[in-house]
Amino acid sequence: MSVLKVARMGHPVLRTVADPLPDEMLQSAEIQQLIDNMVETMVEYDGVGLAAPQVHESWRLFVMEVPSDSPRYGETGAVQPLTVVVNPEYTPQGDQIVYSMEGCLSIPEIMGLVPRHERIKVRYQGRDGKLVEAELSGFPAIVFQHEYDHLDGILYLDRMESFETLAYRREYERYGRLDGE
Ligand code: NI
Repeated sequence: MSVLKVARMGHPVLRTVADPLPDEMLQSAEIQQLIDNMVETMVEYDGVGLAAPQVHESWRLFVMEVPSDSPRYGETGAVQPLTVVVNPEYTPQGDQIVYSMEGCLSIPEIMGLVPRHERIKVRYQGRDGKLVEAELSGFPAIVFQHEYDHLDGILYLDRMESFETLAYRREYERYGRLDGE
């Protein structure tokens, strides 16, 4: 396994709509290796999610994991075991919107307040190709929507309603959210 180079904002791969991953490709040693390397890369950089385009691979594939010792766990009380998500779709459940400070390995050091659906129904294939259906809420739902956006060439900055909450991580930890919440 190896830690992969992460594409940073400005690289065109982050603005490209990724291709669906055909079943026969998914089973290939190359893609299975890519998945292992993405997991290792996410862990190495303390991420809770990583999408294939972020490691210069334009496939509809991401990995996510919200461990119980994640600083964000306390916000919603939801953990997400290590999950490999291939060819995902999601549908919002209800119209409740939550706002949370997001960061991105492709936009180092910076965080900003982003609106997301509180609850979503998700459908995707696992790394074995089997179809998975689930309902997510809280922080795992936020991570899913953030990573899904990467597959469509969308960055969280595009989703922000205002840039007033943009902050460097250190300043955010020191001063909190600038919208007062
Ligand atoms: Ni990201």
